Amino acid sequence: MSAPGNIPDTPPGVFEALGQRLLAQADTLRTFSDEPDCYTRTYLSAAHRQAAAQLKTWMMEAGMSVREDAVGNVIGRLENGNDAAPTLVTGSHFDTVRNAGRYDGVLGVILPIAVAKKLRDEHRTLPFALEVVGFADEEGVRFATSFLGSSAYIGNFDPSLLERRDEHGITLRDAAHHAGLNIDSVETDHRDFTNVAGYVEVHIEQGPVLLNDGYPLGVVTAIAGASRYLVTVMGEAGHAGTVPMPARRDALAAAAEMALAVEAVAALQPGILVATVGKFQVDHPAANVIPGRVEFSIDLRSGDDSARRAAETELISKLKSIAARRQVDASLAPYHDSRAVPCDPALMARLDTAVAACGLPVRRLPSGAGHDAMTVAEVAKVAMLFVRCGAGGISHNPKESLTAPDAGFAAQAFEQFLLAL
Ligand code: HGY
Ligand code: MN
Ligand code: MN
Repeated sequence: MSAPGNIPDTPPGVFEALGQRLLAQADTLRTFSDEPDCYTRTYLSAAHRQAAAQLKTWMMEAGMSVREDAVGNVIGRLENGNDAAPTLVTGSHFDTVRNAGRYDGVLGVILPIAVAKKLRDEHRTLPFALEVVGFADEEGVRFATSFLGSSAYIGNFDPSLLERRDEHGITLRDAAHHAGLNIDSVETDHRDFTNVAGYVEVHIEQGPVLLNDGYPLGVVTAIAGASRYLVTVMGEAGHAGTVPMPARRDALAAAAEMALAVEAVAALQPGILVATVGKFQVDHPAANVIPGRVEFSIDLRSGDDSARRAAETELISKLKSIAARRQVDASLAPYHDSRAVPCDPALMARLDTAVAACGLPVRRLPSGAGHDAMTVAEVAKVAMLFVRCGAGGISHNPKESLTAPDAGFAAQAFEQFLLAL
C-alpha cells in the first residue's frame, strides 16, 4: 500500500510537548532494570518495585486515586464525582522481556496518565471514571506466567501459579510476600466488571506495517492467539571422545532438529502461522560432554485458531517421531494458550473517528503480538490503538524506537476518544 498523502508531520504543539514528556518518562523507567547493561525488568524484582512506585507517583500527580492490588498491578482512577458513572479501563504492562526496548507496555500506562493529567489541569471532567492499570506481569519472563497481571485483575488468577519457581528456586508466593504484597487475597482482590464501559489499550505496533505504509496510528482489528510449550528432551550424557556416533543419544542434536521442525511447520503457512523457539537450554553444558538434557520453548501464533490447533497436532507428532528415531524422550508441557481475540466493532469505530479527528488517515491492522487486552476481552469489550515504531518496526529489542510526534499523536487521539465517548 502506498503512503497516504497530506499527513501532518507533527501534532499540535501541546501534544508534541506531551509526546516529548512521554519519551522522557520512558527513559526514566528505563533506569529501573534488573541488569546493569541491558533493560530487563522482571516481575517483583527490586527494579520492578521501583517502577511501580514511579507509576504511582505519576498517577498521584495526575490527581488519580491510586492502589496496588494483590499481585502488584498499579491502579489509578480519575473519578468523575458520580459513583454510579461507568468506568473506562485502559492500561498495559510495565514488566519487560530480557534486553527489552523501552516502549513495549509502558507507553500504554504513561500515556493515559499524561492525558488524565492534562484533562484535570484543564478542569475538564469525563462522563465516566477513567481507570489506568499498570499490569505487573505480562511478558511472564520470571515465572513463565504470561498475562498474570491482567488475569488477576479480571478475577481469573490460577492459584497454582503461587507455587511456580523462578530460576533461583524462589516461589511466586515468596517473591510477592517479599515485595510486601497481600498475595493471599489474590482470589478476591479483583475488579468487578459490571459497570465497565470497555477496555482500550495503547501500544506500540511492534511491527513494520504502520511504518512502511506511512501511518502514525493504527486501529487494531484482532489479536492473534498463541500456544506455548516447554519441551524437555532427555538423552544420555556421555564422553565426547569415546562414545561412537551411532551409539549416542544426544539431547541437543535431537532438540536442534526439533527446533528446525518447529520453524518448518510455520514456514509452510506464511501469513497464517508464526513459530519461535526462543529459549534453548542445555543442562550441564561442557565442550567435552554429549548433552544429556535440553529444554526449549515453543511459541506458536495465528489469527486463525483452527490453523493453530492443526499446527499443534502436527508439531507434536513431528517432535515425537524425531525423538523416536533418535532414541531420546521428548515431553511437551503446554503452559499458555490464548484464543485469537476480535476487537469490539463499536470501540474500533470510535477509535477510527478519534484518529481522523487528529487529521490522520485511518489504518486498521491485526496484532501479531499478544496484549493484556486479550485477557480483559474475557469480561469486557476491548479495542487497541497502535502507534508506529521506527527502526523497521523492531521490538523485543533495545533498538525499539518511537518519535515524540507519534507519541503526541497517540495522546491526542486517545484524548479525542475519551472526550467523544
Ligand atoms: O509475547 C507477546 O506477544 C507479548 O509481547 N507479551
Ligand atoms: Mn512484549
Ligand atoms: Mn507489550
